[in-house]
Amino acid sequence: MASVQEDFVRRAHDAIPGGSLGTYFPADGQEFVIARGEGARVFDTAGKEYIDYVLGSGPMVLGHAHPAVVAAVTAQLQRGSSFYALNEPAVLLAEKLRESVPCAEQVKFCSSGSEACFFALRIARAATRRNKILKFEGAYHGHFDATLMGTWPGKLPNETYPAATPDSAGIPQNVRGDVLVAPFNDLERTAEIVKAHKDDLAAIIVEPQSRLVDPKPGFLEGLRRLAHEAGVILVFDEVVMGFRVARGGAQELYGVIPDIACFGKVLGGGYPLAAVAASRPLMQLCNPRHKGQADYAYMSGTLNGNAVAAAAGLATLTELEKPGAYERLRAIGERMRSGLRQAASRAGVAAQVLGVGPMANIYFTATPITDYRTAETQDAARSRALGRELLKRGFLTHLVTKIYLSLAHSDADIDRTVGTVEELLKADLR
Ligand SMILES: Cc1ncc(COP(=O)(O)O)c(C=O)c1O
Repeated sequence: MASVQEDFVRRAHDAIPGGSLGTYFPADGQEFVIARGEGARVFDTAGKEYIDYVLGSGPMVLGHAHPAVVAAVTAQLQRGSSFYALNEPAVLLAEKLRESVPCAEQVKFCSSGSEACFFALRIARAATRRNKILKFEGAYHGHFDATLMGTWPGKLPNETYPAATPDSAGIPQNVRGDVLVAPFNDLERTAEIVKAHKDDLAAIIVEPQSRLVDPKPGFLEGLRRLAHEAGVILVFDEVVMGFRVARGGAQELYGVIPDIACFGKVLGGGYPLAAVAASRPLMQLCNPRHKGQADYAYMSGTLNGNAVAAAAGLATLTELEKPGAYERLRAIGERMRSGLRQAASRAGVAAQVLGVGPMANIYFTATPITDYRTAETQDAARSRALGRELLKRGFLTHLVTKIYLSLAHSDADIDRTVGTVEELLKADLR
């Protein structure tokens, strides 16, 4: 007879394509349904415990069901959750964003990181009255048509820069013409593309550390300069890095200030909330009182600034402001990264370990990773096998993207994980 969990998995496959809520799914035979999360652990409906390095794809930087977040959400729930009109937690959260983030004179909320990037590019187009955007190969900025290009163009992309390859079916052919793709960390090539398209180019959008690949010294500064010279808006996608690598995000960490920044994940404390932040003149373009003006950029949504999500975000950011929080996040990330490096070296396996702050990942390649194409030299089969074996042993990872760490992970959690990785690498798994 099927167990309760097996029955749930079967029903999930019936009701939901692939039995997956997004793109994450464990290998066949390893599927599970999460019953609850607490701190750095999740528990499935069969009672199995996992150390969780997925963290809801990043928002749960305090760990699951953090008491301060639970208390804030519970209190707000009793006062109502969604109003569309102004609510107190949303105003307080907007102020906190402004206090924390250098480029944020004003902010406007939306519900997901994808929406934040989408609206940022709309504002950039409205401000410049140009259409094109430039993104970097391998960079993910969410699910909308204009940026779902050149994210995973395959091992040997046929297209040459700046041609954009759609990552999904269903993207209109004509959107391609407005998207330029450049190699991350190649300022010279990017400058050529910007120069060739400067009359049509509205924005350069970049994740400052692109999917864990470090920006080379001077790269972000170079983009800042290029954008400025060409009258192009520089957008930092801080959906992952915002409030995670520093209170002021990547712009504080690298000391380069964009025109617009996009936030999500940590900002919503595990609830659907994201934001666009920029200078007052740029943000005024989406002031609804300007509806009807030629440069008015529409930005609205039913759940924007949802009071429960804002309360969760506010509680999360308040916890992160406590002394030592960011030091701890950095220290735990460094412990994981150096542990993984040692594990690979002791096992005699060529690997690159990347990441900043509380993020890490291991790529099985001897080639230093500086962009999408060098990342593609990795032995992805080995990475998948490692993820499968870790899951069997109670470590939930999504090695296709990254390992996320939280304030709830202990040094002992990291050491146990790294020890298991070493054993598995020595066993030469496939
Ligand atoms: C860098 C980056 N930008 C944008 C997004 C999209 O955010 P969301 O999934 O909330 O739409 C993601 C999601 O993982 C991301 O990693």
